[in-house]
Amino acid sequence: MALQIASEVPSAAGDVAPYDPELERIEIELLLEGIFRHYGFDFRSYAYASIRRRLWKRIEAEGLSTVSALQTRVLHEPEMMERLLLDLSINVTAMFRDPTFYRAFREHVIPILRTYPFIRIWHAGCATGEEVYSMAILLKEEGLYERCRIYATDINEVVLQKAKEGIFPLDRMQEYTENYIAAGGQRAFSDYYLAKYDGALFDDALKRNVIFSLHNLVTDRSFAEFNVILCRNVLIYFDKDLQARVHRLFYDSLAMFGILGVGSKESLRFSPHEDAYDQINGPEKIYRKAR
Ligand SMILES: C[S@@+](CC[C@H](N)C(=O)[O-])C[C@H]1O[C@@H](n2cnc3c(N)ncnc32)[C@H](O)[C@@H]1O
Repeated sequence: MALQIASEVPSAAGDVAPYDPELERIEIELLLEGIFRHYGFDFRSYAYASIRRRLWKRIEAEGLSTVSALQTRVLHEPEMMERLLLDLSINVTAMFRDPTFYRAFREHVIPILRTYPFIRIWHAGCATGEEVYSMAILLKEEGLYERCRIYATDINEVVLQKAKEGIFPLDRMQEYTENYIAAGGQRAFSDYYLAKYDGALFDDALKRNVIFSLHNLVTDRSFAEFNVILCRNVLIYFDKDLQARVHRLFYDSLAMFGILGVGSKESLRFSPHEDAYDQINGPEKIYRKAR
């Protein structure tokens, strides 16, 4: 079914009202304000076009026709909020996603980490955890896992639960094996999981040093000092003011000479601390706090 957002919206009486983008913006702002005040999830500074698309996806899926109708349901039905949260938090991920990032990490960051006796790593916005298990594999292969404590956080409880389980779809293992090899993997990828029905259950040893926990980048504070922060494919959903705030949080949470890695479409552009970092690898977005 085509989205109705393009040109017209049915009124309560069933006749079609012309699409009014200004009115729609008011409705969306009211909905996001209501969600924040009632549930504490703050999506008010997320990139507008993306939020609007996600809201309409849910409006259509529920058979509704206006943002205001969704607002009524969301505010009165916590289950609707849960469904909407899954839409708004966009949990797409993959193991060894953008393998060149992991290869650069192996080549340029691991030698730095080797000089540390203890390493604290934060995966902010880890979704279902594929990125966390990928990093755990890399650290094991480099002999550093035992001195690492890895904090894996996300805003969404449902995806965090999946991350804790460490079971990923078996039909993606071919793709992940290719990513792993391209990322410089040193063993047979299948050594790390057991195939069970349609799932791949990853080795428990990979999560021994991982703490999974709820954390909202918009409303929660820093909770430790880290040597590495990876926040990939999360900032892209935030507007520039919110990106700046979250960058401030990362700057404050990184130890001096700590490493910050962001997604391929992200950068330090909106960071108030852009000048405080050196880029340690050209094409990959890996930076080192230098000042
Ligand atoms: C597209 S996934 C990225 C997953 C992984 N980092 C990767 O690159 O494959 C974005 C994740 O950011 C999380 N997220 C969105 N807003 C957040 C916030 N305010 N605080 C923490 N996590 C957030 C979402 O729940 C989602 O799991």
